[in-house]
Amino acid sequence: MRYIHCPSGMKIPYIGFGTYTLTKDDIEAVIPLAYRTGYRLFDCAEYYGNESSLGRVIKEYNLPRNHLFLSSKVHPDIRSYEEAKAAIEQSLKDLQIDYLDLLLLHSPTPLDKLDRDHSPYYESNHEVYKAMEEAYKEGKAKYLGVSNFGIDDLKDLLSHSSVKIAVNQIKLHPHHVDQDLLEYCKGKGILVEAYSPLGSGGLLSDPELKEIAATHGVSPAHICLSFVHQLGCLPITMAKEEAYMAANISVPTELSPEELYSLLQ
Ligand SMILES: NC(=O)c1ccc[n+]([C@@H]2O[C@H](COP(=O)([O-])OP(=O)(O)OC[C@H]3O[C@@H](n4cnc5c(N)ncnc54)[C@H](OP(=O)(O)O)[C@@H]3O)[C@@H](O)[C@H]2O)c1
Repeated sequence: MRYIHCPSGMKIPYIGFGTYTLTKDDIEAVIPLAYRTGYRLFDCAEYYGNESSLGRVIKEYNLPRNHLFLSSKVHPDIRSYEEAKAAIEQSLKDLQIDYLDLLLLHSPTPLDKLDRDHSPYYESNHEVYKAMEEAYKEGKAKYLGVSNFGIDDLKDLLSHSSVKIAVNQIKLHPHHVDQDLLEYCKGKGILVEAYSPLGSGGLLSDPELKEIAATHGVSPAHICLSFVHQLGCLPITMAKEEAYMAANISVPTELSPEELYSLLQ
């Protein structure tokens, strides 16, 4: 597995395996297979409701903790310091581990309020991040970050926090790129993780993507992931099919400036 060395000092696998929507049975079948295929970064969240299944499988299959990079998130509805403290402990307990490699604040607002004004939630973001900073200082999280944060959300939290924000995990795929946000994160030394890099699978029939894929003799999924890597971001993808899992960690294809430009639009 290749790694990215980040400005925060974090060394992180260059691609992550997502766990959203995986049932208990899926986890049993898919996680050991993903590990054997070469995945080391597993993107978890309390919100996904499956961390205890994941913890059981990691233990049952003896997946070595020091080879894993485990990331979790504080639930988007958790808005107070005390609740956040308890939620972090719960994730550690469910995953049966004593530290997380990366801990994210899942969202700057409850998920159903993301399209509204975020400022009423800033105070609660400070509280949750304070609990995360304590987990960091106690060695329960090696790095901290956020998810679904825009520039204003980041500006606010950066001025109310002391532990570096190492990651912002956002939705990013061809034809869905917030270039201002990418530039801002780059300037602050924040790694952007791209979730749903294949548009949850729905993007793969896009004619332009298919044409670029045909030119390079690869799949549209491979072009999506290459695009994300070329932007300097880390894709968090998910596949239940073994062939897809293997294909998604293959060496990215270099896209031409014209191809990159057209996929940015
Ligand atoms: N922070 C947040 O708010 C947030 C929000 C959404 C997601 N996420 C994270 O991002 C992860 C990934 O999200 P996503 O599932 O939307 O990601 P995605 O990678 O865009 O889409 C996954 C889908 O694409 C299919 N697929 C995977 N590789 C393929 C390939 N090579 N060729 C053709 N189809 C392929 C999979 O099919 P099969 O399953 O049939 O193999 C699956 O249905 C989640 O699990 C979660 O960890 C975070």
